[in-house]
Amino acid sequence: MRHRWLVLLVACLGSGLVVMGLSAENAEVVIVEYRVPSEYPPGELGEIIKLGREIVEKTNEHPLSKAYVGNALTCSSCHLKAGTVPHTASFLGTATAYPAWAPREKRVITLEDRVLNCFMRSQNGVRPPNGSKVSTVITAYITWLSTGSPIKMNHARSLGPNHVKPLKIKPEQADAKRGAILYATQCADCHGKAGEGTPEGPPVWGNQSYNDGAGLSHNDKLAAWLKVAMPLDEANLSEQESLDIAAYVNSHPRPHFVLKEHLPKPERLGVYNW
Ligand code: HEC
Ligand code: HEC
Repeated sequence: MRHRWLVLLVACLGSGLVVMGLSAENAEVVIVEYRVPSEYPPGELGEIIKLGREIVEKTNEHPLSKAYVGNALTCSSCHLKAGTVPHTASFLGTATAYPAWAPREKRVITLEDRVLNCFMRSQNGVRPPNGSKVSTVITAYITWLSTGSPIKMNHARSLGPNHVKPLKIKPEQADAKRGAILYATQCADCHGKAGEGTPEGPPVWGNQSYNDGAGLSHNDKLAAWLKVAMPLDEANLSEQESLDIAAYVNSHPRPHFVLKEHLPKPERLGVYNW
């Protein structure tokens, strides 16, 4: 039997996204929920998932992940509350999109690949081996956040259904000078006048920040993320303000990305057992 789903309504309910669909064949309303599952699976799998969440929140400090991290960030620095907040680079529903076509790598990649590539760029570190414990626990955690959602592999890009929506404003409309003024009043208290970070917020430029191969190093991507995520807990910037601030933040130096410096030695590219 063929299934065709007509998406009727996307509503934000509580902590999760709920997509309601209608099957064209039998007019039955189906609810696909993107929300944090209420329980962990029993046994070792549940333990692995919990460990994955812990590492997502403490990536730069946890003994299993810190050797692969080259800055002061955690996955949660950008994937807020361990990727459980809808729209802010959420991990809800992400696993349903993989394997996916990745225009950057020019090949089909798995969710595990996507996780590992974030270590090289956003974390300015080294790609952990495929199949390593750190890789498996994070991928298990992210997959768990898609519990109950139907698979819909993405043939266009390596992004899940809840990805950050691009802004309408054109990147050429950015004004970094205006961004500097906004940064001083809206961001510097938490991220420092020189972008160096404070106890209230991680570094946003300099050696301890994401490198220039990361998604957020592109002004349009950073602006779209700022629009939904910052200032923390009261994201209320306009598109123009988000873009101006993004241009200002990204006008400062940050580590330069050279792929071969972020790949592990060939014999560490993958492991069979922990
Ligand atoms: C500097 C910010 C930053 C950090 C740190 C970061 N990421 Fe990301 N990551 C992003 C952005 C931005 C995207 C694109 C998300 C979007 O458009 O919704 C992304 C995308 C992803 C995706 C694909 C999401 C999807 O919807 O398909 C995965 C998986 C992912 N990151 C995992 C991780 C993991 C695991 C870590 C920690 C090891 C990490 N990221 C650290 C910024 C970051
Ligand atoms: C109240 C404090 C606070 C304010 C104000 C704030 N941020 Fe943040 N920001 C944070 C925290 C905390 C995180 C990390 C989230 C986490 O770990 O839960 C973060 C994360 C980030 C990140 C991703 C991680 C990194 O360091 O690269 C960027 C970029 C960022 N903020 C930019 C901004 C900008 C630009 C503004 C001003 C519009 C701003 N923030 C305002 C606290 C703040």
